[in-house]
Amino acid sequence: MNVELPVLAPSILAANFSKLGEELQTCADAGINWFHCDIMDGHFVPNISYGPAIVETVRSVVPDAFLDVHLMIENPDNFVEEFADAGADLISVHYEACPHLHRTIQNIRQLGCMTGVVINPATSVELLRPILPNVDLALIMSVNPGFGGQAFIESSYDKVKQLVQIRNEEQLNFLIEIDGGVGLKNIGKLAQSGVDILVAGSSVFKADDIPQRIEKLKNNALKGSNKVA
Ligand code: DX5
Ligand code: ZN
Repeated sequence: MNVELPVLAPSILAANFSKLGEELQTCADAGINWFHCDIMDGHFVPNISYGPAIVETVRSVVPDAFLDVHLMIENPDNFVEEFADAGADLISVHYEACPHLHRTIQNIRQLGCMTGVVINPATSVELLRPILPNVDLALIMSVNPGFGGQAFIESSYDKVKQLVQIRNEEQLNFLIEIDGGVGLKNIGKLAQSGVDILVAGSSVFKADDIPQRIEKLKNNALKGSNKVA
């Protein structure tokens, strides 16, 4: 993986599925090479989204893009292989859903994928310390997972800063990702706080002009700006 940081990662959950291919291509043409896929099972989170077939579709439309699959499901071990086969480059699992997190992370790596761990808003960053040497990415949920379009939880900035501090202290090099409520008015501050991968669903796909919104989000992230207009 060779990416310039910070990365803007559109979450396709907010896309118009009747023209998913077209919208993915629009993003790719606007320079997007990392897509975030949200998998929800109606158990771990109170909503159902989509499964490996859609990930496979994304892979076929944007064959060169990096596919980051965020599993919000119970028993992720039962499904990681299917998502790896569907074309995932990285699979993230929730700390809260994995009683044997270290084993689950090992399973993902054995399938040839990069590994990620995710924490919900009410979970402490400190709990991640033992697993951080084994992951490529740590994802901080800045909304309660399950739905797009929710308001950003402000205490997430402090969690990002704590992760940056742990990464420095332990001399690790995992990527830091944030997910939920990211848009023009906070993306600059998030990038400045140390976020490497900025997931944005509604802000990208609900925009009237997707390429223009992507450009503005990227600009704000690069400049540390929170300009809305
Ligand atoms: C929430 C998902 C997010 C969501 C983000 O459960 O993990 O990736 O799609 O959507 P927005 O950017 O609309 O908050
Ligand atoms: Zn997500």
